[in-house]
Amino acid sequence: MSEIQRVGVVGCGLMGGGIAQVCAQAGYETVVREVDQAFLDRGMSGIQKNLDRAVSKGKLEESERDAIVGRLQPTLALDDLAECDLVLEAIIENLDAKIELFSAVGKLCKATAIFASNTSSLSITEMAAGTDRAERFVGLHFFSPVPVMPLVEVVRCGQTSEEAFKLAYAFAESLGKSPIACGDNTGFVVNRLLVPYMLDAIRAYESGVASIPDIDTGMRLGCGYPMGPFTLGDFVGLDTLYHITDIMYNEYKEARFASPPLLRRMFLAGYHGRKTGKGFYDYSDDEPVVSDFVK
Ligand code: 3HC
Repeated sequence: MSEIQRVGVVGCGLMGGGIAQVCAQAGYETVVREVDQAFLDRGMSGIQKNLDRAVSKGKLEESERDAIVGRLQPTLALDDLAECDLVLEAIIENLDAKIELFSAVGKLCKATAIFASNTSSLSITEMAAGTDRAERFVGLHFFSPVPVMPLVEVVRCGQTSEEAFKLAYAFAESLGKSPIACGDNTGFVVNRLLVPYMLDAIRAYESGVASIPDIDTGMRLGCGYPMGPFTLGDFVGLDTLYHITDIMYNEYKEARFASPPLLRRMFLAGYHGRKTGKGFYDYSDDEPVVSDFVK
Protein backbone atom coordinates (compact mmCIF):
# COMPACT_ATOMS: atom_id res chain seq x y z
CA MET A 1 0.00 0.00 0.00
CA SER A 2 1.17 3.53 -0.74
CA GLU A 3 1.64 6.31 1.84
CA ILE A 4 -1.92 7.27 1.09
CA GLN A 5 -4.33 6.25 3.85
CA ARG A 6 -7.20 8.65 3.71
CA VAL A 7 -8.77 9.54 0.38
CA GLY A 8 -11.23 12.32 -0.45
CA VAL A 9 -13.50 11.84 -3.44
CA VAL A 10 -15.35 14.96 -4.54
CA GLY A 11 -18.50 14.19 -6.51
CA CYS A 12 -20.63 11.09 -6.00
CA GLY A 13 -22.17 10.66 -9.43
CA LEU A 14 -21.61 7.73 -11.79
CA MET A 15 -17.81 8.12 -11.71
CA GLY A 16 -17.28 9.56 -8.22
CA GLY A 17 -19.51 6.92 -6.61
CA GLY A 18 -17.62 4.13 -8.38
CA ILE A 19 -14.26 5.63 -7.41
CA ALA A 20 -15.34 5.99 -3.76
CA GLN A 21 -16.51 2.37 -3.79
CA VAL A 22 -13.22 0.96 -5.11
CA CYS A 23 -11.20 3.11 -2.67
CA ALA A 24 -13.19 1.82 0.33
CA GLN A 25 -12.99 -1.74 -1.05
CA ALA A 26 -9.20 -1.41 -1.19
CA GLY A 27 -9.12 -0.47 2.50
CA TYR A 28 -8.86 3.33 2.34
CA GLU A 29 -10.79 5.56 4.70
CA THR A 30 -12.79 7.46 2.10
CA VAL A 31 -14.49 10.82 2.52
CA VAL A 32 -17.12 11.34 -0.20
CA ARG A 33 -18.22 14.90 -0.68
CA GLU A 34 -21.23 16.14 -2.64
CA VAL A 35 -22.82 19.57 -2.87
CA ASP A 36 -26.37 18.39 -2.39
CA GLN A 37 -27.91 15.85 0.01
CA ALA A 38 -30.09 14.29 -2.71
CA PHE A 39 -27.03 13.67 -4.97
CA LEU A 40 -25.13 12.25 -2.02
CA ASP A 41 -27.98 9.91 -1.06
CA ARG A 42 -28.38 8.71 -4.65
CA GLY A 43 -24.64 8.06 -5.00
CA MET A 44 -24.39 6.23 -1.68
CA SER A 45 -27.41 4.07 -2.46
CA GLY A 46 -25.78 3.14 -5.81
CA ILE A 47 -22.68 1.98 -3.93
CA GLN A 48 -24.83 0.05 -1.45
CA LYS A 49 -26.69 -1.66 -4.33
CA ASN A 50 -23.44 -2.69 -6.02
CA LEU A 51 -22.14 -4.17 -2.77
CA ASP A 52 -25.45 -5.90 -1.99
CA ARG A 53 -25.38 -7.45 -5.46
CA ALA A 54 -21.88 -8.77 -4.81
CA VAL A 55 -23.09 -10.28 -1.52
CA SER A 56 -26.09 -11.91 -3.16
CA LYS A 57 -23.80 -13.42 -5.82
CA GLY A 58 -21.58 -14.84 -3.05
CA LYS A 59 -18.64 -12.65 -4.12
CA LEU A 60 -18.50 -10.65 -0.88
CA GLU A 61 -19.19 -11.57 2.75
CA GLU A 62 -21.81 -9.48 4.53
CA SER A 63 -19.19 -8.51 7.11
CA GLU A 64 -16.84 -7.29 4.33
CA ARG A 65 -19.65 -5.23 2.80
CA ASP A 66 -20.37 -3.64 6.16
CA ALA A 67 -16.67 -2.89 6.68
CA ILE A 68 -16.49 -1.24 3.23
CA VAL A 69 -19.55 0.90 3.96
CA GLY A 70 -18.01 1.76 7.36
CA ARG A 71 -14.92 3.16 5.63
CA LEU A 72 -17.07 5.57 3.59
CA GLN A 73 -17.75 8.96 5.12
CA PRO A 74 -20.40 10.80 3.09
CA THR A 75 -20.45 14.55 3.68
CA LEU A 76 -21.56 17.90 2.32
CA ALA A 77 -18.74 19.73 4.14
CA LEU A 78 -15.55 20.52 2.22
CA ASP A 79 -13.75 20.85 5.57
CA ASP A 80 -14.02 17.07 6.05
CA LEU A 81 -11.38 16.67 3.32
CA ALA A 82 -8.74 18.39 5.49
CA GLU A 83 -6.98 15.21 6.65
CA CYS A 84 -6.96 13.45 3.27
CA ASP A 85 -3.66 12.34 1.72
CA LEU A 86 -5.19 12.31 -1.75
CA VAL A 87 -8.12 14.38 -3.00
CA LEU A 88 -9.64 13.14 -6.24
CA GLU A 89 -12.32 15.14 -8.00
CA ALA A 90 -15.05 13.70 -10.20
CA ILE A 91 -17.34 16.71 -10.46
CA ILE A 92 -18.84 18.26 -13.61
CA GLU A 93 -16.55 18.60 -16.62
CA ASN A 94 -16.07 22.34 -16.20
CA LEU A 95 -12.59 23.81 -15.83
CA ASP A 96 -13.60 26.83 -13.73
CA ALA A 97 -15.57 24.66 -11.30
CA LYS A 98 -12.60 22.31 -10.91
CA ILE A 99 -10.08 25.12 -10.40
CA GLU A 100 -12.37 26.75 -7.85
CA LEU A 101 -12.73 23.45 -5.99
CA PHE A 102 -8.97 22.79 -5.83
CA SER A 103 -8.28 26.35 -4.78
CA ALA A 104 -10.67 25.91 -1.81
CA VAL A 105 -9.33 22.44 -0.96
CA GLY A 106 -5.75 23.72 -1.17
CA LYS A 107 -6.46 26.03 1.76
CA LEU A 108 -7.68 23.09 3.87
CA CYS A 109 -5.36 20.19 3.09
CA LYS A 110 -1.81 19.52 4.25
CA ALA A 111 0.93 20.58 1.84
CA THR A 112 1.89 16.94 1.21
CA ALA A 113 -1.57 15.93 -0.03
CA ILE A 114 -1.82 14.92 -3.66
CA PHE A 115 -4.57 16.39 -5.81
CA ALA A 116 -6.00 14.42 -8.72
CA SER A 117 -8.65 14.97 -11.34
CA ASN A 118 -10.75 12.30 -13.02
CA THR A 119 -11.28 14.61 -16.00
CA SER A 120 -11.64 12.82 -19.31
CA SER A 121 -10.59 15.71 -21.49
CA LEU A 122 -9.75 18.94 -19.67
CA SER A 123 -6.14 20.01 -19.28
CA ILE A 124 -4.38 18.68 -16.18
CA THR A 125 -1.69 21.33 -16.71
CA GLU A 126 -4.23 24.14 -16.53
CA MET A 127 -5.88 22.71 -13.42
CA ALA A 128 -2.51 22.16 -11.74
CA ALA A 129 -1.42 25.72 -12.52
CA GLY A 130 -4.49 26.99 -10.68
CA THR A 131 -3.48 25.27 -7.41
CA ASP A 132 -0.84 25.86 -4.75
CA ARG A 133 0.79 22.47 -5.56
CA ALA A 134 1.26 21.98 -9.28
CA GLU A 135 4.07 19.47 -8.60
CA ARG A 136 1.66 17.28 -6.61
CA PHE A 137 -1.16 17.35 -9.16
CA VAL A 138 -2.00 14.41 -11.44
CA GLY A 139 -4.79 13.03 -13.55
CA LEU A 140 -6.38 9.74 -12.44
CA HIS A 141 -8.85 8.87 -15.17
CA PHE A 142 -11.14 5.92 -14.43
CA PHE A 143 -13.53 4.13 -16.81
CA SER A 144 -17.20 3.36 -16.45
CA PRO A 145 -18.39 1.21 -14.71
CA VAL A 146 -15.53 1.98 -12.33
CA PRO A 147 -15.89 -1.13 -10.13
CA VAL A 148 -15.56 -3.32 -13.26
CA MET A 149 -13.19 -1.62 -15.70
CA PRO A 150 -9.54 -2.38 -14.85
CA LEU A 151 -7.90 0.65 -16.47
CA VAL A 152 -6.77 3.90 -14.88
CA GLU A 153 -4.90 6.49 -16.94
CA VAL A 154 -2.34 8.17 -14.68
CA VAL A 155 -1.59 11.54 -16.21
CA ARG A 156 1.42 13.65 -15.49
CA CYS A 157 2.04 17.11 -16.80
CA GLY A 158 5.25 19.11 -17.08
CA GLN A 159 5.04 20.27 -13.46
CA THR A 160 4.23 16.88 -11.85
CA SER A 161 7.06 15.58 -9.64
CA GLU A 162 8.34 12.04 -10.14
CA GLU A 163 7.43 11.27 -6.53
CA ALA A 164 3.80 12.38 -6.92
CA PHE A 165 3.46 10.47 -10.19
CA LYS A 166 4.84 7.27 -8.61
CA LEU A 167 2.55 7.63 -5.60
CA ALA A 168 -0.48 8.10 -7.83
CA TYR A 169 0.50 5.15 -10.01
CA ALA A 170 1.00 2.91 -6.96
CA PHE A 171 -2.32 4.13 -5.59
CA ALA A 172 -4.11 3.04 -8.78
CA GLU A 173 -2.42 -0.37 -8.49
CA SER A 174 -3.45 -0.64 -4.84
CA LEU A 175 -7.08 -0.35 -6.01
CA GLY A 176 -6.54 -3.52 -8.04
CA LYS A 177 -6.47 -1.49 -11.26
CA SER A 178 -4.00 -1.68 -14.14
CA PRO A 179 -2.66 1.83 -14.69
CA ILE A 180 -1.04 3.23 -17.82
CA ALA A 181 1.14 6.35 -17.86
CA CYS A 182 -0.03 9.21 -20.08
CA GLY A 183 1.09 12.71 -20.88
CA ASP A 184 -1.33 15.61 -20.60
CA ASN A 185 -2.77 15.45 -24.11
CA THR A 186 -6.48 16.14 -24.38
CA GLY A 187 -8.32 12.80 -24.33
CA PHE A 188 -5.17 11.04 -23.05
CA VAL A 189 -4.95 7.60 -24.74
CA VAL A 190 -8.41 6.05 -24.62
CA ASN A 191 -10.70 8.97 -25.43
CA ARG A 192 -8.36 10.17 -28.15
CA LEU A 193 -9.05 6.90 -29.97
CA LEU A 194 -12.53 6.07 -28.67
CA VAL A 195 -14.25 9.43 -29.24
CA PRO A 196 -13.55 9.68 -33.01
CA TYR A 197 -14.72 6.05 -33.33
CA MET A 198 -18.04 6.86 -31.62
CA LEU A 199 -18.47 10.04 -33.67
CA ASP A 200 -17.76 8.10 -36.87
CA ALA A 201 -20.48 5.63 -35.94
CA ILE A 202 -22.96 8.53 -35.69
CA ARG A 203 -21.77 9.91 -39.03
CA ALA A 204 -22.12 6.45 -40.60
CA TYR A 205 -25.71 6.31 -39.37
CA GLU A 206 -26.38 9.90 -40.57
CA SER A 207 -25.16 9.01 -44.05
CA GLY A 208 -27.34 5.92 -44.24
CA VAL A 209 -24.67 3.22 -43.98
CA ALA A 210 -26.82 1.04 -41.70
CA SER A 211 -29.33 1.22 -38.85
CA ILE A 212 -28.28 1.95 -35.27
CA PRO A 213 -28.85 -1.65 -34.06
CA ASP A 214 -27.02 -3.04 -37.10
CA ILE A 215 -23.98 -0.80 -36.56
CA ASP A 216 -23.96 -1.87 -32.90
CA THR A 217 -24.27 -5.53 -33.81
CA GLY A 218 -21.55 -5.15 -36.43
CA MET A 219 -19.02 -3.83 -33.95
CA ARG A 220 -20.03 -6.30 -31.24
CA LEU A 221 -19.94 -9.42 -33.36
CA GLY A 222 -17.34 -8.31 -35.88
CA CYS A 223 -14.81 -6.92 -33.44
CA GLY A 224 -15.73 -8.58 -30.15
CA TYR A 225 -16.52 -5.27 -28.44
CA PRO A 226 -18.79 -5.77 -25.39
CA MET A 227 -21.09 -2.97 -26.58
CA GLY A 228 -21.61 -1.33 -29.95
CA PRO A 229 -20.87 2.42 -30.27
CA PHE A 230 -24.48 3.63 -29.79
CA THR A 231 -25.09 1.42 -26.74
CA LEU A 232 -21.79 2.66 -25.35
CA GLY A 233 -22.71 6.30 -26.04
CA ASP A 234 -25.97 5.87 -24.14
CA PHE A 235 -24.08 4.12 -21.34
CA VAL A 236 -21.42 6.85 -20.98
CA GLY A 237 -24.05 9.60 -21.44
CA LEU A 238 -24.56 11.65 -24.61
CA ASP A 239 -24.15 14.85 -22.58
CA THR A 240 -20.73 13.62 -21.43
CA LEU A 241 -19.80 12.54 -24.96
CA TYR A 242 -20.91 15.90 -26.35
CA HIS A 243 -18.87 17.86 -23.79
CA ILE A 244 -15.76 15.74 -24.40
CA THR A 245 -16.18 16.21 -28.15
CA ASP A 246 -16.47 19.96 -27.72
CA ILE A 247 -13.31 20.14 -25.59
CA MET A 248 -11.33 17.88 -27.95
CA TYR A 249 -12.41 19.84 -31.03
CA ASN A 250 -11.44 23.13 -29.38
CA GLU A 251 -8.03 21.69 -28.56
CA TYR A 252 -7.13 19.99 -31.84
CA LYS A 253 -9.36 21.80 -34.39
CA GLU A 254 -9.58 18.54 -36.33
CA ALA A 255 -12.82 17.53 -38.05
CA ARG A 256 -12.68 14.01 -36.60
CA PHE A 257 -13.30 15.45 -33.11
CA ALA A 258 -16.21 17.70 -34.19
CA SER A 259 -19.67 16.80 -32.93
CA PRO A 260 -21.99 15.48 -35.65
CA PRO A 261 -25.20 17.56 -35.83
CA LEU A 262 -27.27 14.64 -34.53
CA LEU A 263 -25.25 14.33 -31.31
CA ARG A 264 -25.60 18.06 -30.65
CA ARG A 265 -29.36 17.94 -31.20
CA MET A 266 -29.80 14.92 -28.95
CA PHE A 267 -27.76 16.68 -26.27
CA LEU A 268 -29.90 19.84 -26.58
CA ALA A 269 -33.13 17.81 -26.50
CA GLY A 270 -32.16 16.06 -23.26
CA TYR A 271 -31.74 12.62 -24.90
CA HIS A 272 -28.68 11.82 -22.79
CA GLY A 273 -28.87 8.03 -22.84
CA ARG A 274 -29.53 5.65 -19.97
CA LYS A 275 -29.44 8.37 -17.34
CA THR A 276 -32.47 10.15 -18.87
CA GLY A 277 -34.18 6.96 -20.07
CA LYS A 278 -33.70 7.81 -23.75
CA GLY A 279 -30.77 8.34 -26.07
CA PHE A 280 -30.18 6.35 -29.24
CA TYR A 281 -32.29 3.72 -27.51
CA ASP A 282 -35.37 3.97 -25.29
CA TYR A 283 -34.91 2.14 -21.98
CA SER A 284 -38.55 2.23 -20.79
CA ASP A 285 -38.98 -1.54 -21.22
CA ASP A 286 -36.70 -4.45 -20.33
CA GLU A 287 -35.39 -4.68 -23.90
CA PRO A 288 -34.11 -1.33 -25.27
CA VAL A 289 -35.64 -0.24 -28.60
CA VAL A 290 -34.49 2.49 -30.99
CA SER A 291 -35.70 5.81 -29.53
CA ASP A 292 -38.26 8.10 -31.18
CA PHE A 293 -35.56 10.75 -31.82
CA VAL A 294 -33.75 8.57 -34.36
CA LYS A 295 -36.61 6.45 -35.71
N1 3HC B 1 -21.70 -0.90 -11.84
C1 3HC B 1 -21.06 -1.85 -11.16
N2 3HC B 1 -20.92 -3.12 -11.63
C2 3HC B 1 -21.48 -3.40 -12.80
C3 3HC B 1 -22.17 -2.45 -13.57
C4 3HC B 1 -22.28 -1.15 -13.03
N3 3HC B 1 -22.90 -0.15 -13.69
N4 3HC B 1 -22.60 -3.03 -14.71
C5 3HC B 1 -22.20 -4.30 -14.67
N5 3HC B 1 -21.53 -4.54 -13.53
C6 3HC B 1 -20.90 -5.79 -13.12
C7 3HC B 1 -21.91 -6.88 -12.90
O1 3HC B 1 -22.38 -6.87 -11.57
C8 3HC B 1 -21.09 -8.11 -13.20
O2 3HC B 1 -20.29 -8.41 -12.06
P1 3HC B 1 -19.80 -9.93 -11.75
O3 3HC B 1 -18.98 -10.38 -12.91
O4 3HC B 1 -19.01 -9.77 -10.49
O5 3HC B 1 -21.04 -10.72 -11.58
C9 3HC B 1 -20.13 -7.67 -14.32
O6 3HC B 1 -20.10 -6.24 -14.23
C10 3HC B 1 -20.63 -8.09 -15.69
O7 3HC B 1 -21.93 -7.56 -15.84
P2 3HC B 1 -23.10 -8.24 -16.68
O8 3HC B 1 -22.88 -9.72 -16.73
O9 3HC B 1 -24.40 -7.74 -16.16
O10 3HC B 1 -23.01 -7.58 -18.10
P3 3HC B 1 -21.88 -7.63 -19.19
O11 3HC B 1 -21.09 -8.88 -19.16
O12 3HC B 1 -22.60 -7.24 -20.41
O13 3HC B 1 -20.87 -6.46 -18.79
C11 3HC B 1 -20.15 -4.23 -18.90
C12 3HC B 1 -21.31 -5.15 -18.57
C13 3HC B 1 -18.97 -4.50 -17.97
C14 3HC B 1 -20.65 -2.81 -18.70
C15 3HC B 1 -19.71 -4.51 -20.40
O14 3HC B 1 -20.82 -4.39 -21.24
C16 3HC B 1 -18.63 -3.58 -20.88
O15 3HC B 1 -17.46 -3.79 -20.61
N6 3HC B 1 -19.01 -2.53 -21.65
C17 3HC B 1 -18.08 -1.55 -22.18
C18 3HC B 1 -17.76 -0.54 -21.12
C19 3HC B 1 -16.79 0.49 -21.62
O16 3HC B 1 -16.33 0.50 -22.74
N7 3HC B 1 -16.48 1.42 -20.70
C20 3HC B 1 -15.61 2.53 -21.01
C21 3HC B 1 -16.44 3.71 -21.36
S1 3HC B 1 -15.45 5.11 -21.78
C22 3HC B 1 -15.18 5.87 -20.31
O17 3HC B 1 -15.65 5.49 -19.27
C23 3HC B 1 -14.30 7.08 -20.38
C24 3HC B 1 -15.05 8.33 -20.07
O18 3HC B 1 -14.10 9.38 -20.00
C25 3HC B 1 -16.10 8.65 -21.10
